[in-house]
Amino acid sequence: MKALVLSGGAGTRLRPLTHTSAKQLVPVANKPILFYGLEAIADAGITDVALVVGDTEDEIRRAVGDGAAFGLDVTYLRQEAPLGLAHAVLIARDFLGDDDFVMFLGDNFVFGGITDSVEEFRKARPDAQLLLTRVPDPSAFGVAELDDQGRLVGLEEKPARPRSDLAVVGVFLFGPAVHDAVRAVRPSARGELEITDAVQWLLDGGRDVRTTVITGYWKDTGNAADILDVNRRLLDLLEYRVDGDVDEASEIVGRVRIDAGATVRGSRIVGPAVIGAGTLVQDSYIGPSTSIAEDCVIRDSEIEFSIVLRESSFDSIRRVEGSLVGRNVHVSLSPRVPTAHRFVIGDHGRVQLSS
Ligand code: G1P
Repeated sequence: MKALVLSGGAGTRLRPLTHTSAKQLVPVANKPILFYGLEAIADAGITDVALVVGDTEDEIRRAVGDGAAFGLDVTYLRQEAPLGLAHAVLIARDFLGDDDFVMFLGDNFVFGGITDSVEEFRKARPDAQLLLTRVPDPSAFGVAELDDQGRLVGLEEKPARPRSDLAVVGVFLFGPAVHDAVRAVRPSARGELEITDAVQWLLDGGRDVRTTVITGYWKDTGNAADILDVNRRLLDLLEYRVDGDVDEASEIVGRVRIDAGATVRGSRIVGPAVIGAGTLVQDSYIGPSTSIAEDCVIRDSEIEFSIVLRESSFDSIRRVEGSLVGRNVHVSLSPRVPTAHRFVIGDHGRVQLSS
C-alpha cells in the first residue's frame, strides 16, 4: 500500500502566513501540521509516499527531504496548478501503479491517526473507502448521503443545501479502479477535478464504495481559527517536561513543555503551553493553549490561546489572545508622544486593537 499526500494549494485563507510559507508547514504545538500526517502514515505501516507539490515545492522539500526522518521513502510529484484532488491522482498514475493507496490531504488533522481505517481497508479491499464525520457546517465540504442501512447513496461537493451533516474527511482509501474514475470526470464549477465526483462515478458504476463514520477529532486547517483549535487540542495531550532554564522567581503550572535552550525569568506559565528552544520569556505571563516557537523574546507581556512562530518578539504588550503570529514579527509599545499606533504589516494581515 502506498500514500499520496497532497501538499500544494495557495492557502489563501491563511494569508499572510502563506505568502512566505506553505500552509501545510504552519506549526501547531511547534511542529508543522504536515508532519503529523506523515507520522500517521508511517504508523499505519506505509513507507512508499508521494508528496504532490505546487508552488511551495522547494519549502516542502526542505522540510521533509527524502522522508527518512519519518521512516518514509518520499517521492515528489509536481502539480502545475491546483486542478483538484482527482487531478492529483491522475498525475500520480505511474507512482501508484495498480497498488492500493491512501490519499491524505496535507493540511488535514486526524486525531488518533489512520491506522484503524487502513487496517479495515486492507481486510475488505473495496474500490474506495471514505472517512466521514458529522460537522455543523457541511456546506464547506464534500457531503455524503447514506441510506438507512448506512450505505452510501450519493456525494455532493460543497452543496448549498446539504442532504446530511456528514462531511468527507481528507483521508481517502482507494484500489486501482479509481484511475478509471479520475479519467472519466470533468471539471466542476470551480474548475477542479473533484474526488467526490470520481467516487460518485465508482458508485454509479456499481463498484464497492464504503464509508466509515469517525467520531474522533478532525480538522481541515483552512484558516487561523482552525489552526488555533488544533493547537489547543494537541497541547491538551502534552506532558510536563522542563528541559529549559527556569529561575526561582518563575512559576510553571500544569502541562508545560519548555525545550532545552529556552530561558524563563520571573514569569508565570500556565499550561498547556510549549516554549521552544532559544526563546526567552521574561517578566511575562504565558497562558493556556499557547505555542511559542524557537528563538522568540517575550518580555513584560501576557499571551494566551495563541501561536507565535520563530524569531518573533513581544515587549510590554498586554494582553494577547486568540492570535496567530508569523515569523520574525515584532510587537512593542510605541513611544509616549505622539500617541499613535504604528504598523509595518504584510499583505492580508489583520490587526484588532483593544484601545
Ligand atoms: C476537499 C474535498 C472535500 C473534502 C475536503 C476535506 O475540499 O473536495 O470533499 O470534504 O477536502 O478537507 P477542498 O479542501 O479541496 O476544498
